[in-house]
Amino acid sequence: MNFYVMTLFPEMIEREVQSSILGRAGQNGLLSIEAVNIRDYTKDKHKKVDDYPYGGGAGMLMQAQPVYDCCLAVREKIDGKRGKGAGEKAKVVYLTPQGKTFHQGMAREFAQEEDIIFLCGHYEGIDERVLEEIVTDYVSIGDYILTGGELPALVMIDAIARLVPGVLNNETSADVETFYNGLLEYPQYSRPEQWKEKEVPGILLSGDHKKVAQWRLEQSEMRTKEWRPDLYEKYLCRKNLIEKLINKNKVLYADMWECLQVDKGEILYDGEEGAVVWNREDKLVMIAAFRKEGAEKILGYMPEHVEELQVILHQEFLLPLMEKRYRITEKLMCKRAAYNRKNPLPLPKEIEIRQLDISYAKEILSHYHLGTEEYMKERLSSGCMFGAFVEGKMAGFMGMHTEGSLGMLEVYEEYRRQGIAESLESYMINICLSKGMLPYGDIVIGNEPSFRLQRKLGMKVTKEIFYWVVAFSPLL
Ligand code: ADE
Repeated sequence: MNFYVMTLFPEMIEREVQSSILGRAGQNGLLSIEAVNIRDYTKDKHKKVDDYPYGGGAGMLMQAQPVYDCCLAVREKIDGKRGKGAGEKAKVVYLTPQGKTFHQGMAREFAQEEDIIFLCGHYEGIDERVLEEIVTDYVSIGDYILTGGELPALVMIDAIARLVPGVLNNETSADVETFYNGLLEYPQYSRPEQWKEKEVPGILLSGDHKKVAQWRLEQSEMRTKEWRPDLYEKYLCRKNLIEKLINKNKVLYADMWECLQVDKGEILYDGEEGAVVWNREDKLVMIAAFRKEGAEKILGYMPEHVEELQVILHQEFLLPLMEKRYRITEKLMCKRAAYNRKNPLPLPKEIEIRQLDISYAKEILSHYHLGTEEYMKERLSSGCMFGAFVEGKMAGFMGMHTEGSLGMLEVYEEYRRQGIAESLESYMINICLSKGMLPYGDIVIGNEPSFRLQRKLGMKVTKEIFYWVVAFSPLL
């Protein structure tokens, strides 16, 4: 991932990125951070970049020309690295107290980009015309005013970079990371057991993992309620909906409640008729209609201003209603399977399973055609694809989708009927269990070998059919 920072103070950025984790990630080639001096692009012979605002007022404004030319130069740099047109596609983030407040979900969204250009303002701001021309995102890091955008840019870079696979030296990605539930962290303790007459809470010394997990959750809830009542209220809304969906049909609604559990889902609607959950990062909407009446009303709660959407319609009767409102370009009729047990599955020794890296992209793409090249590469570099090896040769692979379902299973022709799919899926199920996730996957109607495999592994398959569709901008 490459960060470019357009600034009048490049030394502020350079000084920071030479040190610590970001510096190491730079040396390892996982990311690059480049400061580009806006002053180098001014056409003014005195190297001036600012002037008085029309209409009067305090302070000076950064002028449009140097900022614009600097941005064109950065885009050219990106084109040089990645090919023509790549620079035009890169997001340009303007750091300003007027922007949307930065949060972890935004960091996760930005972490999916290949290149990000930051624009740091100074003085009283920047001429509006150049902002209109180049900026894609206006971001603030909080409700206070700093002297410039450099510190906010560094804050964002730090939060985004740690989500890039490999930067933190985690073996698995943030996707498979022990989940983050939208609560504040519980208190932690290290040696000694007693310090200044303060003891470590006894339960942490008990060795009972279940009790420790329960205690930590309670502590997190208590802290959040007291220190961040705003977050706690949202947590309670999610918790209520999760309970409702699990009670209605744990397997069918696995996508919705898991998404809420890891705090990746925004509740657009929660009522007696059903629910709508929006996973903004993955551009995925999940819709549950508990009865036919009122289904129309639920569809009125779809996210706005999104051109292309993936939608999971949990009831068949939602499809014609959806088709009335959206142009549907793809649809898959599926059933869902989930592993509802606690015990991990046995793995045969003869089949070795390993996490795959980006060097397997070509091989994976030549065997699997349901995902785009960009998506499969992203899954590989996120550490979410696993390969089965027989006598050192790859015999098949499987992975986890961005929203947490298992899939992308493929066993090469010459290795079929040797238990390889079973091993791969058992392995993936065990990973999910170790992370406290419900292992689930969607099976396209008609894929009988897959249905047989799910049942053999003890998965529960829904009676209900649901639709996975790709929808384009509303027709209404
Ligand atoms: N520039 C000045 N203050 C800022 C803030 N709070 N967030 C982002 N950019 C800024």
